[in-house]
Amino acid sequence: MCGIFAYKGKRDTSLDLVVKGLQKLEYRGYDSWGVASEIDDNIFVEKSTGKISEVKEGAFADKKSHMAIGHTRWATHGGVTEENAHPHLDGDGEIAIVHNGIIENFQEIRDELGHGIFKSETDTEVIAQLIGKYRKEMDFKEAVLKTIERLEGRYAIVVMNKGEEFLIAARRGSPLIVGVGEDEYFLASDIPAFLEYTQDVNYLDDNELVVVDGGIEFFSLETGEKIEKRLVNIDWQAESAEKGDYDHYMLKEIMEQKETILRALNQDEDQINTVVEAIKNARGTFFSGCGTAGKVCMTGEYFFAAIADRHVNFQPASEFPIYHHFLRPESLLVTVSQSGETADVLEAMEVAKSKGSKVLSLVNVEGSTISRESDYSLLINAGPEKAVASTKATTSQLALLLLLAYAIKGQLQEGRRHLSEVGSQINDMLNPRFLTYIKEVAEKVKEANDLYIIGKAENYPMALEAAIKIQEVSYIHAQGFPAGELKHGPIALITEGTPCLSIIANDEVKADVINNTIELKSRGAYIIGIAPENNDVFDEWIKVPDVGVASPLVNIIPIQLLAYYLSTLKGLDPDMPRNLAKSVTVK
Ligand code: F6R
Repeated sequence: MCGIFAYKGKRDTSLDLVVKGLQKLEYRGYDSWGVASEIDDNIFVEKSTGKISEVKEGAFADKKSHMAIGHTRWATHGGVTEENAHPHLDGDGEIAIVHNGIIENFQEIRDELGHGIFKSETDTEVIAQLIGKYRKEMDFKEAVLKTIERLEGRYAIVVMNKGEEFLIAARRGSPLIVGVGEDEYFLASDIPAFLEYTQDVNYLDDNELVVVDGGIEFFSLETGEKIEKRLVNIDWQAESAEKGDYDHYMLKEIMEQKETILRALNQDEDQINTVVEAIKNARGTFFSGCGTAGKVCMTGEYFFAAIADRHVNFQPASEFPIYHHFLRPESLLVTVSQSGETADVLEAMEVAKSKGSKVLSLVNVEGSTISRESDYSLLINAGPEKAVASTKATTSQLALLLLLAYAIKGQLQEGRRHLSEVGSQINDMLNPRFLTYIKEVAEKVKEANDLYIIGKAENYPMALEAAIKIQEVSYIHAQGFPAGELKHGPIALITEGTPCLSIIANDEVKADVINNTIELKSRGAYIIGIAPENNDVFDEWIKVPDVGVASPLVNIIPIQLLAYYLSTLKGLDPDMPRNLAKSVTVK
């Protein structure tokens, strides 16, 4: 939800550097972009609607400066216009600000300042105007602090002031990370933006402010006191956040699943044992996450039942607060989140913590808010996931939940062996022939208006996840159902040629799903079977390895590929689906 990037340091190409950093954050929002810097004693601002990826390298080569701020936007308050793009300025054009988050009391501040002074419809501009107002009476840092006191909501902001050679940034609820290089500093919403310059970072926590001058100083917004921070070294390589030879991040990340499953198993045994004890001791275990991560949680319910003989409850994070009266100090909330920043998940955690319950999180981004605010946190180790549609993080989350289920049963090593085998089967499956076939299938169904997916037991959540993948990147209306529910309503939607994906694992529900697939076929459906074994009912057969209870991991991958090819064959950009952004830090 919006990307922030700012630079202060030894290089005089700060504007071009900020553009480059923002291009790496574009997955967070791509409605419009903007940059600001002080050039020839004036605040220079350039903004535009459209994608920052279209800005040419060296576009600001003639504008030398050592400090700049920038933003790529996912619109919340106000339409996609140049005026609404960040940075925003105060009335005198001396304060420039970029912001990620939502200022809930912006209307009240707007009324107070008088609507006439505003040039945009955004909540962000009130911050710039308020700082500008206070700046007339006090120094820059005090003006920022006084403004922050007035703000309600979630935000990460970076501010600069004409004539001052430092940046001020603050955070409450939206991510902001400081990359620490040699005589240079980077402020960004996410690490890949500066990974090519440094792997050393300071995480800004909620209610903290940082002043970036010749060095960096952190302060508490609550006490005003200085804070000492630990420098953290991030074990990510810059190339892992690049597209490499692939046309899109989505395809690259799908293909990375050849290795990522194995990386998910790379867990510290003591940590796993601690987590297992917490799960075993809990009275009431809840799983929660959003979108794809939520579907992973649902699959986890089946894994925990089938392997660990444990009942857990799933609720999408946005629905979770309603269940607060079931939470007690002995309850455990297990959250799953790729980004570790999702606002609905954070709210679910706040609710659980307010009842004294413990929180375990499974995240991909080390040091993310969700991981830091959890009692226990495990990393899925999938590496940077940049495509908006989650792929490799999904299977890594599934692998880790399955591993935990094995560990609860006292079979951690068996779990590792099983999942390592699944990893090598995925490696074999993702061969060029397999990709070509899926592309052919996509070619056959790409003109469809509707597409339905069925699955049962642990593959029912995968039918729901398949629908999310297809909807978000191909814009085809896709819906997933529990196979047995078809005859209770949805089958009325099937007409001659309607494409239907049927996920059939080699398990005890196989015969049922085959029967349901036959029911679809007899109403004219075009059946794409995803199964280890062929069946006469299939019009197309996508062969997947037989991996027992781990079947969701291998079944979802061809569907990710199908979604990818449906998108690209329709001439769409799978990495930047309309209306979406990665890391949803607003409720
Ligand atoms: C869909 C997708 C989203 C995310 C959801 C949660 O492909 O990626 O549905 O799964 O927004 O995001 P995280 O996992 O970052 O909490």
